[in-house]
Amino acid sequence: MPDLDQTISQLHAAARAQLASASTLEALEAVRVEALGRKGKLNEISREMGRLAPEDRKRIGALLNATKQNLEAELAARKAALEAGALNQRLQAEWIDLTAPAPGPRPGSLHPVTQVQREIEQLFVSLGFTVLDGPEVETEHYNFDALNIPADHPARDMQDTFWLKDGRLLRTHTSPVQVRGLERLGPPLKMIAPGRVFRNEEVDASHEHTFYQLEGMMVDRDVSVAHLIYFMKTLLSAIFHRDVAVRLRPGFFPFVEPGFELDIRCLICNGSGCPVCKQSGWVELLPCGLVHPAVLRASGVDPEQWNGFAFGLGLTRLAMMRYGIDDIRLFTSGDLRFLRQF
Ligand code: DAH
Repeated sequence: MPDLDQTISQLHAAARAQLASASTLEALEAVRVEALGRKGKLNEISREMGRLAPEDRKRIGALLNATKQNLEAELAARKAALEAGALNQRLQAEWIDLTAPAPGPRPGSLHPVTQVQREIEQLFVSLGFTVLDGPEVETEHYNFDALNIPADHPARDMQDTFWLKDGRLLRTHTSPVQVRGLERLGPPLKMIAPGRVFRNEEVDASHEHTFYQLEGMMVDRDVSVAHLIYFMKTLLSAIFHRDVAVRLRPGFFPFVEPGFELDIRCLICNGSGCPVCKQSGWVELLPCGLVHPAVLRASGVDPEQWNGFAFGLGLTRLAMMRYGIDDIRLFTSGDLRFLRQF
């Protein structure tokens, strides 16, 4: 029966062709079932073997077995190739270039208040001033009494001051460092004291319970208002990077006599009047004055021998003016979208 030999080799050829075009493992399995499965075409022929003449049976049997074995091997090879292809595809898709430059950590930057603070510190250090620190938890003595703030002064009101249970308080200004500095170092003394201060305030766009000030003081022999004005003008032109016109108005602070409010000519309108200066042409910036004899005495310094000037600069306020920030709450918000701009 020579046509059976032919049928077998045709089946083999057809299965091979299907194999070659099978591109998935499922398609491959379908080819296997059709050709080699129990109900597959080759097994169909095996079942008919009994009807063959004995001389044909041996030859066809051998051919069938050889064909099945070959096909199994070809299936296995194709399967291995498909699996390798799938793996390669995944490796390609998930490939990571370990030599590519990494994005790296985002460098941080200094807080805007810190930047302004450091700039002013540098200026004063270059003028021979010492930078001092004082405690944020203060005693009533340093925050008020020694600064000639009497017990009935409104600044002592419970509304303004955060009191601690033990009678101490969160300092409401950096002025106590004047007294601590003089006690520790004695005159002559040129010092500044930047730092955090606290007030029991209703918080809004221009008021915070926590903000920064920078205190300054110079104590020597025969210090005058002219010294004060000279240092303040130097300070202001360094801060604003240009000459700034100033004027002094009388101002009251218990720890200075005379006391002043130092105004600067409005930097927005140059004095012609605008919303920022409320049409006055001037902006109130620096309270200052000559150190009150009572403060010197409370600091162990003889007011007959020594005198000085002092000033208080609102660092937070200055940073707001410098960078055009209109909401004080942004400074302590921790909002990175705000901080990353500096
Ligand atoms: N300590 C004052 C405050 O926080 C500011 C101040 C005013 C400081 C006049 C001074 C000064 O040194 O002379 O409101």
